[in-house]
Amino acid sequence: MKKRFGLLLAIIVALFMTVVPLSTQHAQAADNSLEKIQKKGVLVMGTSPDYPPYEFQATVNGKSTVVGMDVQIGKKVAKDLGVKLKIKSMSFDSLLVALQTGKIDMIISGMNPTPARRKNVAFTHVYYQGGYDIVINKADKAKYKNKDSFKGGTLGAQTGTTQYNAVKKQTKNTASKGMTSQSDLILALQSHKLDGVAMEKPSAEAYTSNNKNLAAIPSDFDMSSDATSSAIAFRKGSTSLVNKVNKTVDQIKKENLVKKQYLPAAGKYLKTNTVNTSMGHYWQAFATGVEYTLIITVCSVFFGFIIGILLALARTAKGNIFKTALRWVSTAYVEFIRGTPMMVQVMFVYFGLGLFVNLPALTSGIIAISLNSGAYVAEYIRGGINSVNIGQTEAARSLGMSNGATMRYVVLPQALKNIWPSLGNEFITLIKDSSIVSIIGVTELIYQSNIVRSDTYRGVAPIVVIMVLYFILTFTASRILNYFERKMQHD
Ligand code: ARG
Repeated sequence: MKKRFGLLLAIIVALFMTVVPLSTQHAQAADNSLEKIQKKGVLVMGTSPDYPPYEFQATVNGKSTVVGMDVQIGKKVAKDLGVKLKIKSMSFDSLLVALQTGKIDMIISGMNPTPARRKNVAFTHVYYQGGYDIVINKADKAKYKNKDSFKGGTLGAQTGTTQYNAVKKQTKNTASKGMTSQSDLILALQSHKLDGVAMEKPSAEAYTSNNKNLAAIPSDFDMSSDATSSAIAFRKGSTSLVNKVNKTVDQIKKENLVKKQYLPAAGKYLKTNTVNTSMGHYWQAFATGVEYTLIITVCSVFFGFIIGILLALARTAKGNIFKTALRWVSTAYVEFIRGTPMMVQVMFVYFGLGLFVNLPALTSGIIAISLNSGAYVAEYIRGGINSVNIGQTEAARSLGMSNGATMRYVVLPQALKNIWPSLGNEFITLIKDSSIVSIIGVTELIYQSNIVRSDTYRGVAPIVVIMVLYFILTFTASRILNYFERKMQHD
């Protein structure tokens, strides 16, 4: 027996050792990345539009749009490949995962081709050379000279960026603070939570020319071990695609297109950007936000409720082995969902399941939140079922009703009435918690407020607006729920 097991193991290991190298060799030999994109006809560019003049939001023809020199580059790349360009916005630190899991085809986001990143993705030639500055409040100009002047203070940088590493590693006695969005960092600087924010020089210049209370100073970071330039990233192994795009990049460099055309074009948007920054001007963005928040909440409550009923029935199942197994699985599910953060679940569905099926962000968000809500609803329903006196079940059974019919006509209706307030709570919680899906780029309220913030360079007003909008939503929901609760009590 032992011998045979050993033999089997040997065969499996041998198979593995031959198949794995074969398959990777195969992937290298048959690199059809270029062909695939051209067949698909669209090139999806991922970017973090909080980095003017590289990429930022501006209102173009009444619509909030991603613009900037990187967008121009993306357009040229797509045109040279003979395909359409589609832009997907996300936080800078999500870009690499999104590329690796196939959510996007390339990254153009002022990204530096560092040795660490090169291990996971393939970079084109460099299209632009930036360098680092530190943005400070103009009032502090006499106080700070470079990265070494911030002793006892706090320097901020965007998480996942090279400047964040520089701030952490190359300063002494200076606290470092990372935030996902560049606009939040600027806001924190203006409200004196930070003393300076490190970023690429052109971006520093864009922020300071847009806001007269800000100033830029040289950083003097030693970047000799890291690249201080920007390049386009593709999935590892897409040699044919990278080679082709390198031709475009080389042409951009040779004709100096960035300085001559792309940067001036971006600059124009920077100015028009600040023309009308009233919140009313952005009502459309907020309306879309409300729409998506409602879509996510209503769908998730619906599916969550169905999942919840099934789970609750499974959890109360008793009898043969099959039912016991069902009970075990559903209990494990509920424990697991309750024991992990919803944010992680959302990312898991979007990026993790995304490896097998390419789910759009909205669908992923609804799936994740429904699965999550189902676990909580199951617990409410289970409590509701237990709250119905066992005598009722016995009475129904002795009248000849089947187990299923008893559950359906006697127990569940009463249980539902008892747990209605808890279910209502769940609904209201979901209106608020659906905001988590903004991290995967679903255009709900939080996401829209971020867009308005980076569009207008105003920090607090959009927050106040969505706070009021969320309250209107939850308050209306709670009124409606109360109405039904009263109605149920009358029956
Ligand atoms: N150069 C930096 C890096 O590669 C930061 C780029 C930030 N880009 C952005 N779109 N926010 O890490």
